[in-house]
Amino acid sequence: MSHLVFDVDRVAEAYDAARPEYPPALYAALGELSGVRFEGALAVDVGAGTGISTRGLLDRGVRVVAVDRAGRMLAYLRSRSEGAALLADGNALPLRDDLADLVTYAQSWHWLDRTVSIAEAIRVVRPGGAIAGWWNTVDAGKADWLAACQVRLADCPGYTGPALPGWSMPPIGAAMAAAGLPVAERWVHWIRRIQLEDFLTDLRSHSYVAALNLAHADRLIDRERGELLRVFPDGDLTIPMRVYLAVGRKPLTPEPTDPPVAVAEPDDLKELKQLAVGLTEGEGR
Ligand SMILES: C[S@@+](CC[C@H](N)C(=O)[O-])C[C@H]1O[C@@H](n2cnc3c(N)ncnc32)[C@H](O)[C@@H]1O
Repeated sequence: MSHLVFDVDRVAEAYDAARPEYPPALYAALGELSGVRFEGALAVDVGAGTGISTRGLLDRGVRVVAVDRAGRMLAYLRSRSEGAALLADGNALPLRDDLADLVTYAQSWHWLDRTVSIAEAIRVVRPGGAIAGWWNTVDAGKADWLAACQVRLADCPGYTGPALPGWSMPPIGAAMAAAGLPVAERWVHWIRRIQLEDFLTDLRSHSYVAALNLAHADRLIDRERGELLRVFPDGDLTIPMRVYLAVGRKPLTPEPTDPPVAVAEPDDLKELKQLAVGLTEGEGR
């Protein structure tokens, strides 16, 4: 996965139109590994983007505070998702301690600071709650045409994906374990059926294609259209996919640590916390 910084707002429309949803089995695995009952639970969905993961959670009875730092992405989310949406940095959440049952990063944690983000999530999630990261990706080992497509895409500067030697999912499991959480992982396999033109729109929303100049991106899309029509002459693609999920649970009782040192809370910090509580109660939109 890429750690390049790129202006994701440039691809908001393509992202909203063509990125895949997550399969029901992903949410089932999230419920199982987190131990959180969805109905009425509160999730902070960090890097919520155009709302694919947010709507998946809302559809299962979860109340969601969506957080993203990209205004256009959030505008798409707000146009058809219920709940609060905050324009904010996931590395510094404007939310109070122990607020949420779940903090989720769907296809997003790789953009955040590996250590600071997890410390923030642990602060915001309640004892007994959980932090989860997941990524949808093509399962290139399951189809030769898909592996060949990834090899062609690997020509793009900035490409990250299964065609790179040693490529792996972002290390959120290791980051949560390093922060002291017990971690469980799961792979969920599924099949995506999609029209060729939608698949090409999806390709345009990936950072390594979006980073090309327009003429270069258009040539790449034309090339892929030709290659894929050879495999799927009717334009109906069947794509093996897999989702990697890692879940860290915040213990119910804190691990024994050094005796706490009493520190008085300054008045301005108290005011900031009150503001953060206000945001979660409806002022964040
Ligand atoms: C690939 S999108 C994922 C969107 C959505 N969760 C989904 O499942 O499709 C990643 C999102 O993370 C957001 N993001 C990146 N860094 C962030 C940060 N530090 N704080 C909040 N959001 C961030 C980007 O703006 C982008 O909308």
